[in-house]
Amino acid sequence: MSRRARELGALNLGQGFPDYAIDPRLTQLVGEAMAAGHNQYAPMEGVVELREGIAAKLEECYGAEADPLSQITITLGATEALFSAIHAIVRAGDEVITFDPAYDSYEPAVTLAGGRCIRIPLQPPRFRFDWDRVRDTLSERTRLVILNSPHNPACTVASPQDVQTLADLIRDRNVTVLSDEVYEHVVFDGRRHISVLSHPELAARSYAVFSFGKTLHATGVRVGYAVAPAALTQELRKVHQFNTFSIAHPFQQAVAVYMREKPEAWRNLSAFFAAKRDRLRAALSGSAFDVPPAEGTYFQLIDFSRVPGTAGASDEAVAERLLTEAGIATIPLSPFYETPPRLTVLRLCIAKKDETLDEAAKKLRTFAGAA
Ligand SMILES: Cc1ncc(COP(=O)(O)O)c(C=O)c1O
Repeated sequence: MSRRARELGALNLGQGFPDYAIDPRLTQLVGEAMAAGHNQYAPMEGVVELREGIAAKLEECYGAEADPLSQITITLGATEALFSAIHAIVRAGDEVITFDPAYDSYEPAVTLAGGRCIRIPLQPPRFRFDWDRVRDTLSERTRLVILNSPHNPACTVASPQDVQTLADLIRDRNVTVLSDEVYEHVVFDGRRHISVLSHPELAARSYAVFSFGKTLHATGVRVGYAVAPAALTQELRKVHQFNTFSIAHPFQQAVAVYMREKPEAWRNLSAFFAAKRDRLRAALSGSAFDVPPAEGTYFQLIDFSRVPGTAGASDEAVAERLLTEAGIATIPLSPFYETPPRLTVLRLCIAKKDETLDEAAKKLRTFAGAA
């Protein structure tokens, strides 16, 4: 979608990345780190100051006690943390439970490890977990459950009850949890993100995965991390060591200082994106595009069911029309499913300048015939 948006000169609200500048202080800190000589290999596990800062933040956010030396590993974005965790755990013939619509990096990593994803669909319009289905799917072969909350692309947030139910279901099984929490700081309307790290029973058998790319509006910085008990961390590091080995040193140094200097960067993130979400929702109100509730992440779904001329059309067909006729790139959800249900929603990224969001709403209103 990004490539085609570029080719067609379309406004790109498809792929999830900000189109505004990052905080110049972060840029400055990267320069300072290089000038100070942090240009050789960083420790394989990550810069200690950064891991200490992360440990303090985990305690503040989730009451979690993670030892920075034995339980936190800096990775190449969340993507590497997910890959390394999957390869630490999954062996030939193992089954991994994932929830559709699923982030696209999970299944290839599982397949490469010789495992098989059992994909449980979250059904529109609410995309809630079907825990009965999970109970029926768990077997002796299940080795891993991959959870994602706040959820991309459904924009839902797991409830405390969801997290408790997962713990209950796997209590007597040899199952590890991989919890993708990259949108931990983007939850709306007074909600709280429930990390597996805040649930002692789950924390003892989970990898929790995070990303500074999301938190610092800088997806190209590629600094993420995995938090897990020492034994699980040791296994993850065996993969990490011979995969990416060591993450860009000046970036780690810069992020460590930045997080210490500016904790408001993550503390204010929900309010920042709630304003973006509300701006887009307001700009579309009264149009034929409905805007389902968005509980978290930096995405907003739009529902085209009432848009004239789309009756019976697939989400991919409507996304294609929006791209070619309205000049706006969106993301359909059906490619995130193994067996897609009937879907009438498209995903928009709200991590955009206000002007971009206004322009997007204008294009959508014109398409919907309500300009
Ligand atoms: C749910 C989810 N997990 C993981 C990632 C990957 O994060 P990173 O860019 O830090 O590799 C993304 C990025 O879009 C995401 O949306």
